[in-house]
Amino acid sequence: MHDCYNPPARFYDNLSPIMPRYVALIPAAGSGSRMRTELPKQYALLAGKPLLHHAVHVLCAHPRIEQVFIVLAPGDQRFGEYDWRACGTKLNVLYCGGETRAASVFNGLLAANDAIDGMDWVLVHDAARPCLRTTDVDRLIAEVGDSETGGLLAVPVADTLKRANAGGEVLQTEAREHLWRAQTPQMFRYRVLIEALRRADIATVTDESSAVEQTGAKPKLVQGSATNFKVTYPEDLALAELILKERG
Ligand code: CTP
Ligand code: MG
Repeated sequence: MHDCYNPPARFYDNLSPIMPRYVALIPAAGSGSRMRTELPKQYALLAGKPLLHHAVHVLCAHPRIEQVFIVLAPGDQRFGEYDWRACGTKLNVLYCGGETRAASVFNGLLAANDAIDGMDWVLVHDAARPCLRTTDVDRLIAEVGDSETGGLLAVPVADTLKRANAGGEVLQTEAREHLWRAQTPQMFRYRVLIEALRRADIATVTDESSAVEQTGAKPKLVQGSATNFKVTYPEDLALAELILKERG
């Protein structure tokens, strides 16, 4: 995939600093294997809607975000079965998901190339984080929008951390100072992100920040909310539903 990517010359221009735009990209091409359901988890029913709908709706409704790109698996038959009109006209659907999350993001960035400028900010958000709030997005934009590199929502580790041996016994207690759990959205300039992913080992990179870190940059950590967790296991759906219902 990387071999066939030739960045257009404009990526290397001195791009005008005038009003960069904000766009969102939502990878939603996974299979949800840990959810252990036949349906990919992005279509699991949550508060009467497919899981994917919740994050898409928050990002489409955000006044600073101009366009929202969803990356689906090639041949996805389910997306079209739902009514997306409530998400308005910002929504763009790309059927170019890859083998890994990073490949899906990279393919989506390439496919959206004509619609995004190199200096525009891209907020990459997991479809599987349905409890994202507008205020989380506001904080990320406010704290990262002036930086060169970009940053991500994250929460400081609160629990005591244990390192285990292969037998599941405690080897030692690890210091938790300065440790954070990465969330999404992760927000980077289009040019920075696509170049970082092009250079990264796409099979092992699990978030955008780690690809950007590999270029030597230091993305900014922005305090997120515990409720913006990733629905991964079956029991997570019930918790997400409780949070969404409590918000009305
Ligand atoms: N994702 C993707 N393309 C992939 C793998 C994942 O677009 N090849 C997306 C998922 O749809 C999800 C997000 O990346 O919105 C976070 O991934 P994860 O929670 O790991 O979802 P899955 O990979 O679908 O689940 P699992 O790892 O349990 O199979
Ligand atoms: Mg996965």
